[in-house]
Amino acid sequence: MRLILLGAPGAGKGTQATFICQKYGIPQISTGDMLRAAVKAGTPLGLAAKKVMDSGALVSDDIIIGLVRERIAQPDCARGFLFDGFPRTIPQAEAMRNAGVQLDYVLEIDVPPSAIIERMSGRRSHPASGRTYHVKFNPPKTPGVDDVTGEPLVQREDDKEETVIKRLQVYADQTRPLVDYYSAWAKSDPANAPRYRAISGTGTVEEITARVMEALAS
Ligand code: AP5
Ligand code: ZN
Repeated sequence: MRLILLGAPGAGKGTQATFICQKYGIPQISTGDMLRAAVKAGTPLGLAAKKVMDSGALVSDDIIIGLVRERIAQPDCARGFLFDGFPRTIPQAEAMRNAGVQLDYVLEIDVPPSAIIERMSGRRSHPASGRTYHVKFNPPKTPGVDDVTGEPLVQREDDKEETVIKRLQVYADQTRPLVDYYSAWAKSDPANAPRYRAISGTGTVEEITARVMEALAS
């Protein structure tokens, strides 16, 4: 299984990715998680990316495309992979298409912007694993602590309200056009294009997981 999860910041891509990757036995390739790991490690890439990410803008296509190319060449991607937060621009999508990367599905999770601010303000993450919680909607067993490792949870730097508003605008301008790009490709060349599926991301985490699994079985 090779698929893209498409959706606005806070749509629940990371949350649902965990379930999909478990079910299909594939790695989750989150460009956001990869960039945050580089920031934490203090690499030159991390130092450059931090400012951009904290402002809510996008890191350059060249850097991202290079990171993803390297990642999908790793042996654990031979069985498939899930892209979470990639591609995010038309040039990123074209780079994958031109490189002949075959995809089975593009799955869009659609959540209205009004619900997103509340989701982001309550989000807590475990940086080492990428596991994500919400203080109200998806709380850890012990407040502030990762269920699996017992390590502390953190709040992301870019989850401040004004940065979330900027990220939603960037999504509308630069990423949302991918919805038309992939749905038009699926209509015009169904033999080669990934199947395009869109689901509502409003409801409980379990309800959305059920919708995701149904979409990926059709
Ligand atoms: P990235 O890490 O990709 O952030 P994002 O796309 O903004 O998405 P999020 O991780 O914020 O949301 P999500 O959809 O994963 O939601 P989650 O499951 O956590 O990117 C960060 C930055 O890196 C970018 O701004 C950019 O600068 C850079 N970057 C990354 N990729 C790039 C690329 N390809 N090109 C250029 N730059 C790139 O859920 C959110 C919250 O809601 C959680 O608290 C969760 O518990 C809760 N929740 C989930 N489901 C539900 C539900 N059903 N009901 C209630 N709450 C729920
Ligand atoms: Zn995420």
